[in-house]
Amino acid sequence: MKTPQIRKAQSSNLASKVYSILNKLDYGAYSGGRASYYLDYIQGGYKDELTLVDPVFFPQFAREVLGFILGTSLIPKEKTETSGERPDFLPRDLHLHPFMFETKGTDSRDLALHFPQVQSYIQKTGARYGIVLNLREAIVISETAHPIAELSFSFEKLYRDFKHNPHAVGIQPNTRQFMNFVKEFSHQELDFMQKVEQIAQGRPWTGEETLSLDELTQKIREVVFILHNDVRSQRDQLTHLLGYDNERKVRIASEIDAIAESIDPRKPKWEISASSLREMLGAKSGSLDEKAVDTYFYRVAYFTMTRLLLVRLWEDIGFIDESLYDGGFKKWYENFNRELERVLRYAFHLAGERYSWLFNRENNYTWYYPSDKALVDVLYEFSHFNLGKLNADVLGTIYEEYVDRVDRKNKGQYYTPREVVSFIWDRVGFTHDNAFFHFEDGQRKPRLIFDLATGSGGFLVEAARRLREEATYNCQNLNDLVDIENAIIEGLYGSEISAFSYYITEINLLIQLTPIIKNILEHKHLYRHPEFALSVIHQDSLKLHPRIEKTFEEFPDELRKADEVYERDKRHDIVGLEGRKRQVYEFIKDCRDFDYVCANPPYIGEKGHKELFRATIEQYPYWKQYYLGKMNYLYWFVILGLSKLREGGKLGFITTSYWPTADGAAKLRRYILDNALIREIVDFGETRIFEGAPGQHNVIFVLERYSDAQKRAENRIKVAKVKKEFGDGTVKERFSRLLDHLEGHIEEESYTDEYIDVFLSPVRQGELTEKPWGVFIEEASKKIIDRIGTIGIKLSDHWFVDQGVVPNPLRLTKSKYEELSEKAIEKYKLRIGDGVFILTKQALDRLQLPDCEQGIMKPYFKNSDIEKYTTSASTNDFLIYTTSITPIDNYPNIRQHLEKFRSILVRRRECESGKVPWFSLHWAREQRIFENEKIVCSYRTEDASFAYQDGSFYGSTDMYFIKSKNEREPHSLKYLVGILNSKVIDFWLLKSLLHKPLPQIK
Ligand SMILES: C[S@@+](CC[C@H](N)C(=O)[O-])C[C@H]1O[C@@H](n2cnc3c(N)ncnc32)[C@H](O)[C@@H]1O
Repeated sequence: MKTPQIRKAQSSNLASKVYSILNKLDYGAYSGGRASYYLDYIQGGYKDELTLVDPVFFPQFAREVLGFILGTSLIPKEKTETSGERPDFLPRDLHLHPFMFETKGTDSRDLALHFPQVQSYIQKTGARYGIVLNLREAIVISETAHPIAELSFSFEKLYRDFKHNPHAVGIQPNTRQFMNFVKEFSHQELDFMQKVEQIAQGRPWTGEETLSLDELTQKIREVVFILHNDVRSQRDQLTHLLGYDNERKVRIASEIDAIAESIDPRKPKWEISASSLREMLGAKSGSLDEKAVDTYFYRVAYFTMTRLLLVRLWEDIGFIDESLYDGGFKKWYENFNRELERVLRYAFHLAGERYSWLFNRENNYTWYYPSDKALVDVLYEFSHFNLGKLNADVLGTIYEEYVDRVDRKNKGQYYTPREVVSFIWDRVGFTHDNAFFHFEDGQRKPRLIFDLATGSGGFLVEAARRLREEATYNCQNLNDLVDIENAIIEGLYGSEISAFSYYITEINLLIQLTPIIKNILEHKHLYRHPEFALSVIHQDSLKLHPRIEKTFEEFPDELRKADEVYERDKRHDIVGLEGRKRQVYEFIKDCRDFDYVCANPPYIGEKGHKELFRATIEQYPYWKQYYLGKMNYLYWFVILGLSKLREGGKLGFITTSYWPTADGAAKLRRYILDNALIREIVDFGETRIFEGAPGQHNVIFVLERYSDAQKRAENRIKVAKVKKEFGDGTVKERFSRLLDHLEGHIEEESYTDEYIDVFLSPVRQGELTEKPWGVFIEEASKKIIDRIGTIGIKLSDHWFVDQGVVPNPLRLTKSKYEELSEKAIEKYKLRIGDGVFILTKQALDRLQLPDCEQGIMKPYFKNSDIEKYTTSASTNDFLIYTTSITPIDNYPNIRQHLEKFRSILVRRRECESGKVPWFSLHWAREQRIFENEKIVCSYRTEDASFAYQDGSFYGSTDMYFIKSKNEREPHSLKYLVGILNSKVIDFWLLKSLLHKPLPQIK
């Protein structure tokens, strides 16, 4: 049993602690100078909950008197949380400490007023007691909101009694109540054996338990944290554990290398061999390789957590025998001579009998077995949950945080918000029985679904949830249950290239399947559950393109390769497929019968990733026919998706929004026009979908495979455009409201309000070609735009339109900072944010440049300095305007400044290729652009401001600079600026330019 570690301090000792805490608070500061002592202060009614009681007094009391550590054993409510849905302080282990604290200000004279609030917390958290306190008293209430006198006490009385006679304080009734309080509410720590004991004593679940997803999510985070630390501590053992298995070492080293590349694509390549792993593991602290190793360890921890979770889940529903909880643990722990690792191996063995793909096969994460201490901590954390009740996408949230960790810049890119997933399923109509099933010979057969870039499995998980919760079936009827199970196992296809994400998809889907298995198990006497495999594979989806349908003579050599079955892809650690997974691969490869293809494919522009495109075409020549310069990787996925659909099948994707107009997307547009009806396009405008990807524009679109060319030509596309976001709340909340709003109106023929416009595109699909599509304009606007088009002149015919400089970098960003050597950082005392090519006025003054060096410093403006007609007159920032012809030795002080950053400047692409010297701006442009008479404009053209400027005005690529081409140009720049700022041009930009850069104004 628990043995509370309550310090056996004398009551007077503890009273003295409280006395001293209360004495030391700076009452003058909190009372505006009116009171300086505790007893004076509490006579007033100060509103000090958020200034004194919550942030200062209570944390001290909790630490010094109750032994809690804030943030570790006691979790404060986030300061941003104003919802009032959780108490101010909650012990981390609520099972061991079934109570919570709610703090109030000195202005709260009657704490009883807060009992209902605290009672609701007690009910929500399942705790036994709630404590409401301020500087005067602490009252403990039970779940029926009754105050418990013997546990409640007065701070004021304790203070007075101690002050009066410290030796006699212990005999006061209030002190005895205080001591009861301390005894009941102090922090307790279970040791290893006590935890083992608790797990062993685990009671069987009654089925009445409720599972709090928030609590479980929090526990999962802690479990990953525990395991991650544990994996790190086994770092040295890794190479030792793998012994002579060089192939495995190479595979793990390749994965670490790929992670490092995703963190910094420009990092030098490793020549991977078996010894690389040892070198990587020994990487210097703070280096890129060390970060990659740590992320890999995080994956190991995460993967281990998911397996443990699944085993417990299957135990709790009775799918496998108990071994980690509920009597099973006790039995096997004794049987295996108290060797915990053997218990765990046994548990995995049992799970492997049910699902060998996850438990019986080695992968890059399976070498790790938790240490006894970590395992017990994890099993103890999970022992509080009846996981049999789990049916939600709990891993999604954690995966999102993982993605965030791996690469903050790409946050969200790899994780599709679940609201978007649900919206897409609604848009393709996956909402009712006929969408879920079709009938064949009187039998219900699942419709076929394919996600060709599953990530954490968001789309398949939601499809499974719909099947389970929204299909019509009788959960007492075995046949019905087997139908649903089959629909999940044999209807949901997926493919994912990253091993880690692939495993997460598998486990996430298995969690969705489990409640059905649980119901099926109730018919055990009628049914022996077969071994099964989900239809998800670890593959490069671009390999799944249709086989080439040509005769051998016609078969060009390069296409011959495309028909090979690729066994293995070392780069992605893709092992050859076997057994049922092999069949799944073959099925997807040949299938043109999918009912739905829904996905969030990878968005990768060719710029900066040429090698990826080259390698893909080399490996799968099939894709060459759809290759076009400046294309995006996602185009191939759209084509692949469409090629897999049956006639009438629907494709629902979320992507970036540039493909309807991008030059590199001509082949994609052609393919779509030739094969599909374009049903809907929802353009999210400036609304951010991926929290961490500002500036990215997105669309969701629905295509239907359609072979009737006539019908395709007649089709008019339903367009929905988002104009404005909803107001308050987090990005997620605002976005959810927006999607609900869209869903409410998208079926209408036309609808408009301040948030969205819904209309049928004025052009018919037959009028579209592979050229950019003008489908986003409603009929009336289109007429105006067309008219402007016929009578206007093209801006770039008469004027130069140029972008500003690319300094690279302007300031020391975090990633640039990380590229610097420790020596340079120390020597020059460099910090993130330091100016590289930019100096503030103050920094410039400090350099004390002689006159002859001043000329190279140019006034540097931000695009927010540009308003309609005018710009800010001055700026505090100055650009070091160095170009490839700058005689840098004539500027010794500037040179000395830039020298500090030389190691990163020489690594710039233009510099490495010898196009610019190390001290030059990356792209300096021609200096004439920035001098004398010109029009300057900010890049975001929807809300464009054009200003006339006559002088020295430098800026970067978020600005455009317009200058006359011809000295005898009849339209002066002042005249032009008037036109450009007119309502007509505003309208034109808004309706026709759509995130395209300015020179295309025609
Ligand atoms: C935007 S994410 C998808 C997110 C997913 N819908 C979710 O909810 O987590 C794109 C995914 O495509 C995967 N991917 C990239 N290239 C791929 C390829 N050639 N074949 C299969 N998957 C690929 C990435 O590993 C990533 O997981």
